Amino acid sequence: MEENKPSLELDLFEDNVAMQNTIMAHANELLDTLLDFKELMFYYSSAIREIRTKLEILDTEFELKYQRNPISSIQSRLKSQVSIMEKMNRKGWEITCENIEEKLNDIAGIRVICSYVDDIYRIADALISQDDIELIGKKDYIANPKPSGYRSLHLIVSVPVYFTQSVKRVKAEIQIRTIAMDFWASLEHQIKYKKQINDPQSIASQLKTCADVISYTDVMMQNIRKQLDDEQPEQSELDKIYEKLKKFDVPLGE
Ligand code: GTP
Ligand code: MG
Repeated sequence: MEENKPSLELDLFEDNVAMQNTIMAHANELLDTLLDFKELMFYYSSAIREIRTKLEILDTEFELKYQRNPISSIQSRLKSQVSIMEKMNRKGWEITCENIEEKLNDIAGIRVICSYVDDIYRIADALISQDDIELIGKKDYIANPKPSGYRSLHLIVSVPVYFTQSVKRVKAEIQIRTIAMDFWASLEHQIKYKKQINDPQSIASQLKTCADVISYTDVMMQNIRKQLDDEQPEQSELDKIYEKLKKFDVPLGE
């Protein structure tokens, strides 16, 4: 019988219920925060999809016009939770969804690998000039390479993402580089950040030499392509028809 329960036992029972309620309240709060974070990540993954589509459309349009793809490949990634936490901690910012959204520009990351250096600027300019894209920042590490030898064009943009009840501007970091620049950056990243290095100065200097060679090669390859573009051979009427027919084979990305 409840009224016959010894009072100590009753107190313990009430403490237990109170504790359980507190734990549930904390769990609820934690789940709300985690769900807010999940929603935030959904915004960024949606922005990646929007920007990828824009880039793919530009690439197909170019191919239809000039029978050549300026974009060799596109990679994208959402910054991992551990990288987000690390960066927020490193910068001394309190970890809240509001702060993450306000302070970090590279949660949505898109890497565009182009064939030639002039394609990089062509793609960047075409993207930036779109009405719904807002350019927040631009770092031209091709005109001004990093001391390491790193070269790439970096854009921070925001793009509107439309949901059922709202529209949200979402930021993304776009890195645009040639195949050669990407080869260098990927290897340099692996070599430098994943290994204990005995003679870092020698490694840095060798990597810088490689970056210079790659930069020279990029310029040479672009010059060769331009020479070939300029040498327009005489086309017969049949050649002109074949050239137009080839455009029907361009995949439209549907
Ligand atoms: P983070 O806080 O690292 O994002 O730097 P930041 O906001 O000052 O931007 P920055 O333009 O310096 O670098 C952004 C990104 O470019 C990095 O996260 C790398 O992906 C890439 N990057 C910059 N410098 C180098 C480099 O020397 N080597 C390689 N492999 N990648 C680099
Ligand atoms: Mg970064």
